[in-house]
Amino acid sequence: MQKIIILDFGSQTTQLIGRRVRELDTFCEILPYNSFPADDPDVIGVILSGSPLSVYADDAFRPDLSGIVGKYPVLGICYGAQLLSYTYGGKVEQAGTREYGHASLGYIDPGCQLFKGFDKGSQVWMSHGDSITAIPAGYHVTASTDSVQYAAFECAEKRVWGVQFHPEVVHSLQGKLLLENFVIGICGSRREWTSDSFIEKTVGELKAELGNDKVVLGLSGGVDSSVAAVLLNKAIGKNLTCIFVNHGLLRKNEFTDVLNDYVCLGLNVKGVDASEMFFADLKGVTEPEQKRKIIGRDFIEVFDAEASKITDAKWLAQGTIYPDRIESLNITGKTIKSHHNVGGLPAKMGLKLCEPLKWLFKDEVRAIGRRLGIPEHLIGRHPFPGPGLAVRIIGDITPQKVAVLQEADAIFINGLREWKLYDKIWQAGAILLADHTVGVMGDERTFDNAVALRAVTSVDAMTADWAELPYEFMHWVSNEIINKVKGVNRVCYDISSKPPATIEWE
Ligand code: XMP
Repeated sequence: MQKIIILDFGSQTTQLIGRRVRELDTFCEILPYNSFPADDPDVIGVILSGSPLSVYADDAFRPDLSGIVGKYPVLGICYGAQLLSYTYGGKVEQAGTREYGHASLGYIDPGCQLFKGFDKGSQVWMSHGDSITAIPAGYHVTASTDSVQYAAFECAEKRVWGVQFHPEVVHSLQGKLLLENFVIGICGSRREWTSDSFIEKTVGELKAELGNDKVVLGLSGGVDSSVAAVLLNKAIGKNLTCIFVNHGLLRKNEFTDVLNDYVCLGLNVKGVDASEMFFADLKGVTEPEQKRKIIGRDFIEVFDAEASKITDAKWLAQGTIYPDRIESLNITGKTIKSHHNVGGLPAKMGLKLCEPLKWLFKDEVRAIGRRLGIPEHLIGRHPFPGPGLAVRIIGDITPQKVAVLQEADAIFINGLREWKLYDKIWQAGAILLADHTVGVMGDERTFDNAVALRAVTSVDAMTADWAELPYEFMHWVSNEIINKVKGVNRVCYDISSKPPATIEWE
């Protein structure tokens, strides 16, 4: 299948470039900047991403482009454009002021294929501290803004294009058109990558690879493992056994509701309620990383015990998706929070790994899930952390605290659905705070729990903004929770963005 290679120089928006290319029904791979595949006959074009680095700095990423430029059409975005310019004799310098935010393309070369169909003055999004001050001989400028002369350039002879703005972000209003002009117009994509082609190809491959082997899969209730299970079920039917573990930290009624959904989907699924074990092991534990470790360890133990009851199981299937596997360039060298996905099972189980969604972005998983007939309430679900409510209860965990939080969370989430807000946000939930606060109910003084509500908008959870929920809704939800959830006398709304905060509180 034809593909575009995106070389990653560490920009926050590299994955977004990948998603935009896939939206053009074209397969793409994101690879570290220095690992371009030699002699891959499927490659039809290359995109060089942005980067937080300066191209002229000693530690900048400057791979040898000789096997790429002249061989494939190349589009450099921001740092990618600066790298092309710098490498072939242009000049890149620190900009007097950081060029950040909206700008409009006052000049566009009408003959440039990349800008075919563009409106004069088209709005683009800039975000760079360095700027190209001279382009290489044989290159010519194809777009400018008021303050950036070389907003875009090309060398048609070598099939090289560069843009200093970011076409992948929505603030570049015709960015999608620019990428379409490159991927379809210039690279000649035949638009082979669609949900139907993916399902057909993957089911065929799974049938051939798995034959009559038995496969186990851990369901989490989330969209990825659900879609992986339905896809496998289509390929191998009853040879797939799904295990859904209740660690006691799911949302209200989630275990029974989701188990029922799975049965309705025709899956061969076994529900295992291990909540008592998890609660016992978590007793008195307050440190977030320790909570995660205990939950991860217990999950593996429970899953392993169940899986070993399936005689002759040869494969472990997982809903791993593409962003989980993209090797992130470690530019700052720091880990903020370890994400122990409770689905991450160890090699010691002696099973071969099957990951049918490993090439997909989240939105593609959803599209395929819909195509497979999975109900919308499973497909459109917000992400939910593997350790569940454990990382939304500050301090130690008890079944009583979980029950209080489940009630508050259910009012919040159901309310978001009823008020038609649920699909507008990336993720929402309630957090039970560690301390009690004073209140008054009737004539009585209360000393009860405070609950924080968190709702964020995001595209990939790497960054997030707090959602601007309507005041009427906030008013309603606060009243509902305080009046209906015994033990809660105060509701707060978290107005922190990520960064510097994270989405989860722990
Ligand atoms: P943070 O809190 O790092 O979360 O901003 C980003 C996204 O990851 C989810 N999350 C987790 N998912 N295991 C998971 O499977 C975890 O330990 C975990 N911690 C956070 C979080 O819900 C958000 O979608």
